[in-house]
Amino acid sequence: MSYITDDKLVILGAAGAIGSNMMQAALTMGLTPNVCGYDPFADGMEGTCEEIYHCAFPGAKATWTSDIKEALTGAKYIISSGGAPRKEGMTREDLLKGNAEIAAQLGKDIKAYCPELKFLVVIFNPADITGLTALVHSGLHPSKVGTLAALDSTRLQTALAQHFGVEQSDVQGCRTYGGHGEQMAVYSSTTTVAGRKLNDIIGTDELPAEKWAEIRQHVCQGGKRIIELRGRSSFQSPAHQSVLMVKSVMSGEEYPWPVGTYCETPCGQKLMMALETKLTPDGVVSEMPQGSDEENAELQESVGHLAKLRDEVIEMGTLPPLDQWGTVNPNLA
Ligand SMILES: NC(=O)c1ccc[n+]([C@@H]2O[C@H](COP(=O)([O-])OP(=O)(O)OC[C@H]3O[C@@H](n4cnc5c(N)ncnc54)[C@H](O)[C@@H]3O)[C@@H](O)[C@H]2O)c1
Repeated sequence: MSYITDDKLVILGAAGAIGSNMMQAALTMGLTPNVCGYDPFADGMEGTCEEIYHCAFPGAKATWTSDIKEALTGAKYIISSGGAPRKEGMTREDLLKGNAEIAAQLGKDIKAYCPELKFLVVIFNPADITGLTALVHSGLHPSKVGTLAALDSTRLQTALAQHFGVEQSDVQGCRTYGGHGEQMAVYSSTTTVAGRKLNDIIGTDELPAEKWAEIRQHVCQGGKRIIELRGRSSFQSPAHQSVLMVKSVMSGEEYPWPVGTYCETPCGQKLMMALETKLTPDGVVSEMPQGSDEENAELQESVGHLAKLRDEVIEMGTLPPLDQWGTVNPNLA
């Protein structure tokens, strides 16, 4: 079996649903044989790694530990799903306090044990805020940190394909930007269905305005629906997309979905959120989406919501005040 690289990939939260799937996906997809799982739940972590051994991946050198220093030493890539998941009735924002503290510690651990990291993907929710918190404390350049933000766009693609009865790959350019909470901006101007502009179809008999509003609502609540159907939060799709993100940075292969990335918005907010992005071997590069006035206004609303959440984390003392970010992380000066 051939692998893209020998670099060490560390999966944090690897005893959990997303993390254990990612350990397996990273080997199945041939990223690197050097996959290390970390989780404070040592028995669960050992169980995950035993299963990986039983898969008998040729050439794999999977390891596990419950010692964060051992996990991160020598790490070149990290994907972290290590945090509490949502339960029925909870929003992603309900997870804010506990998971923001985990993110701050993750950033500090990266600074201490693997400052040369090539790329970090943050999954645990609310991902825009945990990703930002980890970035500030890590000292990493903002291009080296991305959050998993693709699922809202893949859910939009799914819903449109189901509505029009076409193959998923016939729906192209699906984009949601801004936060990964329920206040995201769902764009229609970027999307085509079997080569036709979605905006030319909305408001016709093929897709009445009310139906489009329903699809948007469905997308914003896509994660909630999985919890209702399965009794637990989604894990297959976040695992797959996050491993694809790292594969893209390792290989230079195109990653076709938005990534959550650090930005200073035109209105001067320092945030992390889904933008139009490219993953490259040097990390993530982004640009502000150019939508209609209505879409841009929706993005502004999402920005306002994220800024409020970020400010709560500053008030908790888990993030430093904005004017001190450059001291903690010179790359943000
Ligand atoms: N961004 C997205 O699109 C997206 C999608 C789905 C789920 N999520 C989020 O991903 C996270 C993980 O979900 P899951 O279903 O795998 O949950 P899970 O409960 O199955 O697994 C989480 C694991 O994290 C471990 N953990 C706890 N504290 C930790 C720490 N400080 N460091 C490392 N590991 C730690 C736990 O022991 C557990 O094994 C949740 O926050 C969930 O909301 C995000």
